[in-house]
Amino acid sequence: MKKSFINPSFPHLLHGGDYNPDQWQDRPDILAEDMRLMQLANCNALSVGIFAWASLEPEEGKYDFSFMDKALDDIYKAGGRVVLATPSGARPAWLSMKYPEVLRTNVDGSRNTHGMRHNHCYSSPIYRQKVAEINRRIAERYQNHPALLVWHISNEYGGKCYCENCKRAFRAWLQDKYKTLDALNKAWWTAFWSHTYTAWEQIDPPMDHGERYTNGLDLDWKRFCTHQTTDFMKAEIRAVKAVTPNVPVTTNMMGFYHGLDYRVLAKELDVISNDIYPTWRGTQADINTAIDAAFIHDLCRTMKHQPFMLMESTPSHVNWHEYNKLKRPGAHELASLQTIAHGADTVQYFQFRKSRGAGEQFHGAVIDHEGSENTRVFKEVAALGARMKQLDAIVGTKTAARVAILHDWSNRWALESAQGFQLKHKKIGTTQRQFYRSFWKRGINVDVISPEDNFTRYDLVVAPMLYSVSDAQGQKLAAYVEQGGTLVCTYTTAMVDETTLAHLGGWPGAGLRRVFGIWNEEIDTLYPDDCNTVQTPFGNVKAVDYCELLHAEGAEVIATYASDFYAGMPAATVNRYGKGKAYYFAFRDTGDFTDAMMEKLLNDLNITSDFDGALPHGVTAHSRTDGENVFVFLQNFNTEAANVSTATAWQTVENGSTVCGAITLKPYETLILKKER
Ligand code: GAL
Repeated sequence: MKKSFINPSFPHLLHGGDYNPDQWQDRPDILAEDMRLMQLANCNALSVGIFAWASLEPEEGKYDFSFMDKALDDIYKAGGRVVLATPSGARPAWLSMKYPEVLRTNVDGSRNTHGMRHNHCYSSPIYRQKVAEINRRIAERYQNHPALLVWHISNEYGGKCYCENCKRAFRAWLQDKYKTLDALNKAWWTAFWSHTYTAWEQIDPPMDHGERYTNGLDLDWKRFCTHQTTDFMKAEIRAVKAVTPNVPVTTNMMGFYHGLDYRVLAKELDVISNDIYPTWRGTQADINTAIDAAFIHDLCRTMKHQPFMLMESTPSHVNWHEYNKLKRPGAHELASLQTIAHGADTVQYFQFRKSRGAGEQFHGAVIDHEGSENTRVFKEVAALGARMKQLDAIVGTKTAARVAILHDWSNRWALESAQGFQLKHKKIGTTQRQFYRSFWKRGINVDVISPEDNFTRYDLVVAPMLYSVSDAQGQKLAAYVEQGGTLVCTYTTAMVDETTLAHLGGWPGAGLRRVFGIWNEEIDTLYPDDCNTVQTPFGNVKAVDYCELLHAEGAEVIATYASDFYAGMPAATVNRYGKGKAYYFAFRDTGDFTDAMMEKLLNDLNITSDFDGALPHGVTAHSRTDGENVFVFLQNFNTEAANVSTATAWQTVENGSTVCGAITLKPYETLILKKER
C-alpha cells in the first residue's frame, strides 16, 4: 500500500498552529521567545499569514514582507516548517474603501461595511484580481524558502453574497446547466403558483422576502454558492501554483458545514484540512462528543482517501461556545490522538500564542498571556508533541474500511428545504450518527462516502435518509447490491430526483422499488410525544418521528408495526437482489433496533475490529495500515479506568514493548499498538 504524505519532504506528523507574528511587531523579545517555546512545546509547524494582508500590503501596491521574512527564517532555524496562508479571509481597510464592491451584499440588498472577516464577494472581479496579486507576490517571495511546506488557501470559506455580480453569475451558471428556460422551468416545476420564468434576468436567488418554495431553485442556489466559492478558490490556487507547482494546497474546512459541498472543493485540493472544536465536558457525555468528532474525521479522511490535516483545534478552550469550559487534564491528548487514529497526520491549533487584544484574546492557545512554558496547557501540548515525535511509522498510512456511510450535501440540502415531514427538524445528521455509533463502539473503521465514490470496495453501505436520488444514482445503488453488496436505507429514501421533483410510480423511486422489493405508500410524521411500537426479532422497540406504510413486494419482513391503523404492516424489510441484500428501515427508532441490526450485519458479513478484545462502554479502537502492519489506537473516553483484554501479542509503537492479555486503560488513556497485518 502506497503511503500518502502531505509533503514528502517532511515525513513527520505536524504539530503546531496558527501563528500571528504580525500582531507582535513591536515586541522582538516575544518573537524570539516564541521560537524557544515552539521547540519546548515539541511543535514543528506554524501557520503564518492567515489574516496578515494589512501588514503585507499596508497601502495599495506598497508591500512589506519584513515580518514574514523574519518569521519564516526564524521558524526554519528553530527546526520548524511553515503552513503559509493566502490572506484573502480578511482585507485591509483601504481595499474596502476604494473598492466597495468587494464587500458582501446581504440578502436584503444592503452592503456590509468594512469589518470582521470572511466578508467579501466571491464574484467581484476586483477582489479576485487583488487576491491573485497578493498571492502571487507571496508565492514568488517564498517559492524557494526551505520552510514552506503547504499552502493554506484563505480561511474557512463560507457565506453567501447577493450582489448584482453574484446574481448575474448565478444566472449564467443556470444557463450553462439547463441551456433553455423551458428545461429549467420543468426541472423546478415553476408552473406552480404561476412562477414560470420567461427571461433569465427574472431569476433571483431564494430569499425570505422573495422566492422560498421553489425547491429546485433553492438547491441550485446552494450548488451555485459552492461552485462560485470553488471558482474563487481555484483562482487563488492558480496564483500560487503558477509559481510553486509542487507545494501542496489545502483550505481549512469545518466538518459537515452546511453552506458548502466540500467534496467539490476537495477536487481542487492536494490535501484536506479541517477545523474542529468539540464541546468536551470532562463527563461521560464526552463519549457522544467523541462519536460526533470521529464521524467528522472520517468524512475528512474519506474525501481523498488519504491522510488529512487537523488544521485547527484548541489546546484548552474556545471563546465562542456559550460556555467555554477548559478541557480536563488528558482530554487534549485523547482528542488529538483520536484525530490521528481516524487519519489525520497533523495536530494544529488555533492558536500558538494568545493575541493580546480584540475578539480572540481569551481563546485557548499554546502560549498564554502569562508567556512561559509553566502552564498546564503548555505542558500538555509539549507532552503530546513528544508522543507525536515517536509516531513517524504512522505518517502517510491509510485506513482500511469495509463499512461506509453515505453523506451527500445535495441530498441534505434537498431534504432540509422540503416542505413536509418534520418541517424544521429532519434530523439527517442525527440519523447518520445513530448508525455510526454502532460501528464506533465496536471499533469498526467507517468511510463517509459520496454518491460518486466506488461502492464496491465496501461490504456494507448505509445510506440514511437518502431522499434525493437521481436515476443514475439509483442504478449505481442497484448495481452495488446486484453484485453482492449489502445496502441499508431508511424512511424518506428516493422520494425525489436530483432537481427535487417527486419520483413517480411509487417510492422508493429511481428504480429502487424492485431493489428493496417494497412499495412505500405513505409516510406518517409523528408529533414529538407520539410513538408506535415495532415488533422485531430483538423484542419490541419504539418508533418515533417517522413511520412509513410499506407493502412488501417480494421482500422478507423483519419487523412489523404493533399499533395504530397500520398495525401489522412491515416496518423493516430485507430483499435479496442479485448476489446482495437490500435492507429498508421504515421507521425511526431510538437506537436499539439500529444497533442490533448493525451488530447482526457485521456478524453476517464477518466484519470485525482490528482489535480482538471486547470493547467496554466508552472504549474504542480504530486503525490505520501501511499494508504490512496494522496500527491500532486503543482509546478510553471514560472518566474512569477501563479493562480490556487481548489474545494478540501487540507491540507499542512508541517503545516497542509487548502488550498482551489484560490491559487496564487509565481515564483518557490512548495506547498505540502495532501488529503485522
Ligand atoms: C476558526 C477560525 C480561526 C479562529 C477559530 C477560533 O473558525 O478559522 O481563525 O477564529 O475559529 O476558534
